[in-house]
Amino acid sequence: MEMRKFSWKLASQALWQLRVRGRPFVLSHAVTTRCNLKCSFCRYWKNPGPEMGRDEICDMLRDARSFGIGAYNAWAAEPLMRDDLPQILACARSLGMTTSLVTNGLLLKRRLPELAGLDYLTVSLDGLECYRELRGADPKTVVDAICAAKEAVPEILINCVISQRNLDELPRLVELARSLGVWVSFEPMHKENGIDDLAWQKFSICDESAYKEAIDRLIRLKESGAPIINSLTYLKMVRGKRPTFRCRASDIILHVTAEGAVHCCRAQDQPLGHVSQGLARVWERSKIDRKRISRQCPGCLFFGYAENSMLFDMVPEVLAHYEWM
Ligand SMILES: C[S@@+](CC[C@H](N)C(=O)[O-])C[C@H]1O[C@@H](n2cnc3c(N)ncnc32)[C@H](O)[C@@H]1O
Ligand code: SF4
Ligand code: SF4
Repeated sequence: MEMRKFSWKLASQALWQLRVRGRPFVLSHAVTTRCNLKCSFCRYWKNPGPEMGRDEICDMLRDARSFGIGAYNAWAAEPLMRDDLPQILACARSLGMTTSLVTNGLLLKRRLPELAGLDYLTVSLDGLECYRELRGADPKTVVDAICAAKEAVPEILINCVISQRNLDELPRLVELARSLGVWVSFEPMHKENGIDDLAWQKFSICDESAYKEAIDRLIRLKESGAPIINSLTYLKMVRGKRPTFRCRASDIILHVTAEGAVHCCRAQDQPLGHVSQGLARVWERSKIDRKRISRQCPGCLFFGYAENSMLFDMVPEVLAHYEWM
């Protein structure tokens, strides 16, 4: 697959903001607490609560832009549950930000006409056979939506969370991505706070050799040119189940909850401040806390944090094949 030229422009903007100005480049926003699914490996549907209104969000976006943030990602719980999501994305776009959306895809086909101008679309699909067991919905709805989105969104990624339940389905997802002409990414399921032990037992890897074999197949597919977006460096880390990258989440991203609390990353729940205080002020005042949080963290293998941390550290493979923010 051809890499879009403006990815390089985006990468250089990102590196300027991150390395020269010492500020984050991405604002990742859990835009709602509502979801139309209740995946047992996920915590985001479990705490419905207050959400910022559209005006508050647009104020936050203006503030973010003037702080130099260049990318807005709407991602949790299920962003398409928000009626005003298109207006929020349009606000980010009108400020010159690159926009991206992470969705389970169930409402995507219906809402696609409202999403004109979206730059990056990630649709979660963890397998076809096991999808109903994992998510309690019909995978065909999601595949149909991806097909429809091909006409409307320039860059599409299928994101697959790896667990014991889908190890034998990973190559099929790569084949599906290839046949649809989209990218695919893989990342291991993370035991986030709020996931109960029973669910974790069901999904955590118990067959180590099947796991290694499955990841080795992904590595071979990647080496032979399959549209897998993860770097080989990252896939090898996943195989070893050991995050060997230096986490830079606290330097590169601001994670904002639905009610406006600012966090270091999706997994760290310690609030650094609130968007109403101004992002520049929260950023400056949280310097010591951010460093402490990432230093004390045992690590994770979330794809976005790992790859962007390696981009920050200019790992040659990641730098040379930079394709997704
Ligand atoms: C929390 S969801 C929010 C967006 C949307 N509802 C969806 O499912 O794509 C964002 C991503 O996190 C993934 N995810 C959920 N729980 C996870 C876990 N415990 N470990 C790793 N990824 C997880 C989902 O599969 C999805 O790709
Ligand atoms: S993974 Fe996405 S679709 Fe599933 S419950 Fe979590 S937020 Fe909802
Ligand atoms: S390593 Fe820790 S601080 Fe860094 S992104 Fe992962 S969970 Fe967050």
